[in-house]
Amino acid sequence: MTSTSEPVRHGSSIGQPLTRRDGPLKVKGQARFAADNLPPGTLHAALCVAKIARGRVKSLDVAAAEAHPGVVKVMTPENAPKLAKDPDLKDVPFTFKIDVLQNDKVRYANQPIAVVIAETLEAATEGARLLAPTYEEEAPRIGLDAGEVFTPSSVGVGAPAEQVDGDVEAGLASAAKTFTGTYETPAQYHNAMEPHAAVASWDGDKLNLFMPTQGLAIAQGRLGALFGIKPTDIHIESPYLGGGFGSKGVPAGPQVLACMAAKLVGKPVKLVPTRSQMYGPMGHRGPTRQTLRLGVDEGGKLTALDHHILTASSSFDDFFEPAGRVTTTLYASKATAIRHEAVRLDTGTPLFMRAPGEASGSVAIESALDELAFDLNMDPLEFRLANYAEVEPFTGKPFSSKALRECYARGAQAFGWAGRPLKPRQTRDKDGFLVGTGVGTATFPALIFEGMARAEIRADGSGTVEIGALDMGQGAWTALAQIAADGLGLDMETLTFRMGSSDLPNAGIAGGSGHTATAGNAIHAAAKDVIDQLTALAVNDQASPLFGAGNAGVTAANGRLTRRDDTSRSESFADILNRAGKSKIEGKGKAGADPAAQNSYAMHAHGAVFAEVKVDPDLGQVRVSRLVGAFAAGRIINPHLVRSQYYGGMIWGISFALHERAEMDPRTGRFLNDNLAEYHVPVNADIPAMEAILIPEEDSVVNALGVKGVGEIGITGTAGAIANAVWHATGVRVRDIPITLDKLL
Ligand code: MOS
Repeated sequence: MTSTSEPVRHGSSIGQPLTRRDGPLKVKGQARFAADNLPPGTLHAALCVAKIARGRVKSLDVAAAEAHPGVVKVMTPENAPKLAKDPDLKDVPFTFKIDVLQNDKVRYANQPIAVVIAETLEAATEGARLLAPTYEEEAPRIGLDAGEVFTPSSVGVGAPAEQVDGDVEAGLASAAKTFTGTYETPAQYHNAMEPHAAVASWDGDKLNLFMPTQGLAIAQGRLGALFGIKPTDIHIESPYLGGGFGSKGVPAGPQVLACMAAKLVGKPVKLVPTRSQMYGPMGHRGPTRQTLRLGVDEGGKLTALDHHILTASSSFDDFFEPAGRVTTTLYASKATAIRHEAVRLDTGTPLFMRAPGEASGSVAIESALDELAFDLNMDPLEFRLANYAEVEPFTGKPFSSKALRECYARGAQAFGWAGRPLKPRQTRDKDGFLVGTGVGTATFPALIFEGMARAEIRADGSGTVEIGALDMGQGAWTALAQIAADGLGLDMETLTFRMGSSDLPNAGIAGGSGHTATAGNAIHAAAKDVIDQLTALAVNDQASPLFGAGNAGVTAANGRLTRRDDTSRSESFADILNRAGKSKIEGKGKAGADPAAQNSYAMHAHGAVFAEVKVDPDLGQVRVSRLVGAFAAGRIINPHLVRSQYYGGMIWGISFALHERAEMDPRTGRFLNDNLAEYHVPVNADIPAMEAILIPEEDSVVNALGVKGVGEIGITGTAGAIANAVWHATGVRVRDIPITLDKLL
């Protein structure tokens, strides 16, 4: 399968549990990722990156590098092609400042400071080593206590840094019981399996790129502005991504450097950063220190919910982890307030990463709720139900749908929650391990962005759907093709489905768990446009068995239109088109937020995650022995792939709770674990038993297809559920995430 033309193979449509169409190609190594492309004459580039976190580059031994056999050119601030726009200028939304050799300044460790272009990767790599940079170093600011605290103007992508609903202090003063706790989450790095590669070549003022991206049009816009060319003169192929998790939402500096290098040498250039070089210029999740202050009345109802977040951004840009945002939607409270503060550190700029804000915020709030529930002698699930948000807090809007009660009930039943002891450290398994259980609420906004699609049906009865959608591994190749087949009333064999290329209609960003909603609804609308035109031809044609049925009076399936009132009367697409003397019918469709619906309703997916852990009482080692999540996210396009998304999200949750943490040396600002050996993530052996339950939910408001996002919600309840289970097993409450064994002894 390529990004351009591949017929859909296995027949089916919406609701079918199809396996990934791209799976066999990936397993056999036949799926071409960006770095697999090598246009004739391609040169290889290697980055030279800063070994200091703050200061300037004093010298680079360019002569030594260029003297090395095979090295063609060294690109430094001296000779780097001039850009049409300052890369630090942020006059377009979704622009982040990047380091592309604009000067000799070093703003963080692993910042690119030169690019060596050579005939082989080996020569480029050795050339980069020979540059032997020297520096003028300043003391770096590393860690949440290292900088001056201020209130950012916004967090995330334009979300308010402070939000207040009611009088929190009064709520605390009137409470029967109060709780205060401070939780810390570390800096985390995306670690997508595929690095941020780029294979760039110039044809005059036209740029050709093989590059993984979560947003083709965003990348075209950014690169077009930087190079002073039309976005449409940039062609990007991105049929597959080896993960993105937010880090491929915007072009990273090294990808822009590949384009600059290709321009400098007048030949195609391939640049694939090393794993270590991905720690710095590609974004990360900023660290947080979160203080929760809660108050409850006698009946266990929240009177106050105050969430203060201290987080960090880089010294030069301003993405702030929006950890408080989740608190504005999760629970009902008489008064709720969130407030973000921040410091500036000498690190790369944080970026959206796997439920940005929701993941970090929910581990804190879910832990705090548990601590208070224990103090109240209340079952943690009962406590959550007692504070169920019937309408969205802050806005008071009704939810377009919210099957969270069913998630709690079905999840608890499948997990076997009933009869759980309230007190910690009550249970041991046959091997003497301490056993504990915990629950967390999962939630994620149901987003939709602007997207477009094209569709057509031809006189031979076949059809095509085209959209610039992207598959990071989440299953878009399959789920979107199912929507396309369903919309056109074709089986999968007669449908050609194209995506993953900037030549195709803009499908927005594959992010915010909004891609199926965006691309899916655009496809749905394009297909409907085609079927409406085809129907009009038939019902107005006296020679058709459908004559007089009216547009609402027919259905499209199996390549035929059929009368609703008399299913024996039908006609094939081919016959309708041939009689009308048409070779094809083309349609267009759009998706986007409906402002009227958004004004009237709150739209979120929900879930409940139950965790069981076993802790070695002597060594403190934690194992997640069971994980059950029940999620409600509107209409399910493909239950098999949706379950996989939930599994993936829950595994991120295990990773968040127990493993991931970027360690930096506070003296140098350099990473101590910028590799997959020491930056720990769970492996199969860490996931003994996992279940994802799909709770039915119909939503006629959220969008025409009724789908909500499923990509990121799994992480949100899980990390908190695990933290709570660890406490329940051991009686030790770890507020410093990740929960490593040293903190339990
Ligand atoms: Mo995601 S962090 O919206 O790619």
